Amino acid sequence: EYDDDSLLSPNRFLNIAHRGASGYAPEHTLVAYQTGEEMSADYIEIDLQLTKDGSLIAMHDGDISRTTDHEGSVKDMILEEIKVLDAGTWFNEENPDMAQPVFNQIEIPTLDEIFETFGTDSNYYIETKTPEQYPDMVKELVSTLEKHGLIGDDVPEGKVIIQSFSKDSLLEVAKLAPSLPLVQLISYKGKARISDKELRELQEYAVGVGVNYSTLQKDYVEKVRNAGLLLHPYTVNEKEDMERLIEWGVTGMFTNYPDRLNEVLEEM
Ligand code: G3P
Ligand code: CA
Repeated sequence: EYDDDSLLSPNRFLNIAHRGASGYAPEHTLVAYQTGEEMSADYIEIDLQLTKDGSLIAMHDGDISRTTDHEGSVKDMILEEIKVLDAGTWFNEENPDMAQPVFNQIEIPTLDEIFETFGTDSNYYIETKTPEQYPDMVKELVSTLEKHGLIGDDVPEGKVIIQSFSKDSLLEVAKLAPSLPLVQLISYKGKARISDKELRELQEYAVGVGVNYSTLQKDYVEKVRNAGLLLHPYTVNEKEDMERLIEWGVTGMFTNYPDRLNEVLEEM
């Protein structure tokens, strides 16, 4: 269905910089995304949260305490309160070997700022986080993409991929912006299994699935690939795991170390 030069071609392998190159810089900051781009990752991965006053920001947790110097929930804060937070000092403290003075006092970026910075040259793999908590998230996402020329007939296929654990959220995206490719995230407990019925349901709205890698086995990978779906395991940081998954036939992966993944791909 897809040309070989399409980002969505099953013959292309996608290197997705998870929260940016978050092994090397504080996750979800412009410098983490920039580092991913410098390491030739194919995608900047972005998790979205929505502030009380309706701004989309890049953050994994709904609570600010793990990655900033304060406590609270994003949904109870306005953007002005978010912008003064220090989103980098925690990284320096936890990763002394990777610490850099420039990471101190680093800001949390809005989605708007990310697109202003990286423009239409970069590719974005965007997750709607806890969308049931944020009724306006998808509407806001689609309008931000439109504002930056990232939706439309002249946008290369796959330049923006939307991912979510919530099928409802993906279906809302499909309704508002039918051209955007969708990836259903799944978190398995124990061994990953998928029925033919589930695969048929996925084929109706998604181009692929994103699965926690440690639950995967070869037969699952083959089943998903035979159904014509892409398969992007998360979050794969060790070379031996990368090698095994590539041999099984996954079509890309999320990693905190995009340089490591490119080394593995070159060696294979
Ligand atoms: O989006 C793929 C992967 O990032 C899902 O896990 O918790 O890191 O967002 P999480
Ligand atoms: Ca994510």
